[in-house]
Amino acid sequence: MLNVTKIREDFPILKRKVNGHDLVYFDSGATSQRPEIVIETIDRYYRETNANINRGVYEMSVESTQLVEESRKRVADFVGGRAEEIIFTRNTTESINLVAYAWGEDNIHEGEAILISKLEHHSNMIPWQELCRRKGAELRVIDMSEKGELVEEKEAVISEEKGLKLVVGGMKNLLDEKVKMIAITGQSNVLGTEVNVEEMVKLAKKHAPKALVLVDGAQMVPHMKVNVQSLGIDFLAFSGHKMLGPTGVGVLWGRKEILEKMRPFLFGGDMIGEVKLSGATWASLPNKFEAGTPDIAGIIGLGAAVDYLEKVGMEEIHEYEKELTTYALEKMKLLEDEGLIQMYGAEIKNKGGAIAFNITGVHAHDTAQILDSFGIAVRSGQHCAAPLVMNFGVPAMVRATFYLYNTREEVDYFVEKIKDVQKVFV
Ligand SMILES: Cc1ncc(COP(=O)(O)O)c(C=O)c1O
Repeated sequence: MLNVTKIREDFPILKRKVNGHDLVYFDSGATSQRPEIVIETIDRYYRETNANINRGVYEMSVESTQLVEESRKRVADFVGGRAEEIIFTRNTTESINLVAYAWGEDNIHEGEAILISKLEHHSNMIPWQELCRRKGAELRVIDMSEKGELVEEKEAVISEEKGLKLVVGGMKNLLDEKVKMIAITGQSNVLGTEVNVEEMVKLAKKHAPKALVLVDGAQMVPHMKVNVQSLGIDFLAFSGHKMLGPTGVGVLWGRKEILEKMRPFLFGGDMIGEVKLSGATWASLPNKFEAGTPDIAGIIGLGAAVDYLEKVGMEEIHEYEKELTTYALEKMKLLEDEGLIQMYGAEIKNKGGAIAFNITGVHAHDTAQILDSFGIAVRSGQHCAAPLVMNFGVPAMVRATFYLYNTREEVDYFVEKIKDVQKVFV
């Protein structure tokens, strides 16, 4: 069991007031808060070590390089990969774009297909839409049920919009030899739907043997134990800022054999082998994909975040968040039964810590603003997943997302204040 009281003491921001109330931070899906140790690690780096990496022979530069490489090793161990397979990017979005360009440009051809789902965040949708458009490839989209889960079997519907061939249907109806890439979220950022990635990889091996599998782990890696080997995937993208780390650092893990065959994404310093006026050769992994000075302090801070998460325990975090979500869903169901709110995806079988809802007759932005006046931070809008939100026939939703530092008392307060939002409008 997590000692949440003790955990909360590690997060200085949780002591602040918002509009005169204790902060209730229910927006960790957008970005998490950081524990003291992460803030301290970054602060100490700038005070004591700051120097550029990979190039200096002097002590501070060597120390900086070592700290970055130690972080790389920690991140690799955290997801079950090898250090040279960890590429530091800015965020999940950049990690996915890296694959869409550096792998996609050479490996996707006219008539082939890329498979995504309706659950995707725009970051795992638009890079593939654009790649398909450039290449004359099909974008296949696994449909979503009314509950908010992936549909296994449903006849495919083909359409063509702005030069893009779109095929929407059930997962099993979309897998065949034409599929070269399956890019799927590990967990929906709006509904919390946990996708059974292992099962998908098994199906892909059988029905789409040429496909690589990329997992958008932005909402998965921060909340559960992930092992790239046991999942059997080829790429994993995630963001440090959603897992207690600083903003500005993302990760792409890729299988070594695949990364080695890929062309670079960005060109310039640090990613080269030999350079002549007429051209250059590329550095070995991971430097080939890390052009220019990275967010050194951020990478080191991410290492501290990973240590913190491991000390608490990913299994414990996952279990705790599920319990808290079940508790919140039970309380909110009572409000739904009274007609006060509508929830979306409340009956998803495997659901992580995200609850999407609307208050009857109140726009999502108004709800979020009124909740803010009570010190509660929730997100409202389309959550960078417009097709998913639109699938429920609403223009916007309110979303509460939980992490290891949230409590039942906060949920109780939140549910009470939802009732007060209604009162403002009657
Ligand atoms: C599922 C998912 N994918 C991708 C992203 C994009 O992450 P970033 O903005 O860090 O690139 C997010 C951010 O909310 C997300 O929830």
